[in-house]
Amino acid sequence: MSVYKQVQKALLAEPKSWLITGVAGFIGSNLLETLLGLNQTVIGLDNFATGHQYNLDKVKALVSDSQWERFTFYELDIRNPQDCAKAVKGVDYVLHQAALGSVPRSINDPFSTNETNSTGFLNMLIAARDAKVKRFVYAASSSTYGDHPGLPKQEALIGKPLSPYAVTKYVNELYADVFARTYGVETIGLRYFNVFGPRQDPKGAYAAVIPRWIEELYTGVSCRINGDGETSRDFCFIDNTVQINLLAAMCQKDEAVNQVYNVAFGTRTTLNELYSEIRDRLAVKLPKIAGREPEYADFRPGDVRHSLADISKAASLLGYAPTHTLQQGLDVTTDWFLNEFKENGVVAEK
Ligand SMILES: NC(=O)c1ccc[n+]([C@@H]2O[C@H](COP(=O)([O-])OP(=O)(O)OC[C@H]3O[C@@H](n4cnc5c(N)ncnc54)[C@H](O)[C@@H]3O)[C@@H](O)[C@H]2O)c1
Repeated sequence: MSVYKQVQKALLAEPKSWLITGVAGFIGSNLLETLLGLNQTVIGLDNFATGHQYNLDKVKALVSDSQWERFTFYELDIRNPQDCAKAVKGVDYVLHQAALGSVPRSINDPFSTNETNSTGFLNMLIAARDAKVKRFVYAASSSTYGDHPGLPKQEALIGKPLSPYAVTKYVNELYADVFARTYGVETIGLRYFNVFGPRQDPKGAYAAVIPRWIEELYTGVSCRINGDGETSRDFCFIDNTVQINLLAAMCQKDEAVNQVYNVAFGTRTTLNELYSEIRDRLAVKLPKIAGREPEYADFRPGDVRHSLADISKAASLLGYAPTHTLQQGLDVTTDWFLNEFKENGVVAEK
């Protein structure tokens, strides 16, 4: 039996109490769906800065009434220390996801990114320490590799941050490490590489590339690639990300705790390849877009050129075994979005 299966079995046998910050967002709401499906007690915190009530409504529709009753939602803000203290009371495990994502957003408004991602993080860490939680698992980021040229990325080899967002995510790791050594808080940082899947927001100036391109291709808006399209990323389907959060929280090995881990699939895909993968899947339903080409624009400041994770540390210490390749994840994700468009009356290109 896989380590993940064993963890799920143990949680079903002996449910725990969890706090998910950023629960109305993409990753947070997927964590909520899985934990409620395992009959866990979950507190969720969000201020709806980039998250949505409809993500919570979707989860409600996917779990049983009795599972949903185990969920308590607080509309609170991690920039406020009292809010953090209120949410974390009586909790075993914290999965800290709340942050302002996006490199360009942080370049346009470094102050707001810092307030939520650095000060808010510190507030949550202090609250978790004071509430004596069993473990604090948090969303770190592959942006911490910055200008380090090595590929694949190994946890110990990082460069200089290339954006204010990357600074905040690195600061998270520094604080987590100091809190572990100074106060004995158990922490695990998960350096997510580009995560994608159902409920990722396709809208807005700072939307991630996969949901944005799915919606643009569907509605007939032309897709833009920043640079020559040979920029590459290690895209990670959401189920893999949920898996490692639970593994990190429940892992009993001392040497696995107070560490950071890459969270990815471990393969590299260029933006040109990604575009074709998405377009060709949608073209099965919308033959008109078969062969459609993207537009090319300038490279974006702050973007890393290539990204590929070495996931062997997560595999050996946490038992991480990703279940979905990019292609398998895209099958699920494009189907999910097509269904959403139909339900919400989003009109396909005529
Ligand atoms: N999606 C990715 O590819 C990726 C990659 C690397 C790191 N991450 C990190 O993973 C985490 C989750 O990202 P996501 O993709 O789900 O983004 P998301 O924007 O969908 O979710 C973030 C959630 O945090 C909430 N939030 C923001 N500021 C808050 C505040 N002050 N108080 C309370 N809640 C607040 C938002 O409303 C939102 O619901 C973030 O920490 C992000 O930096 C994501």
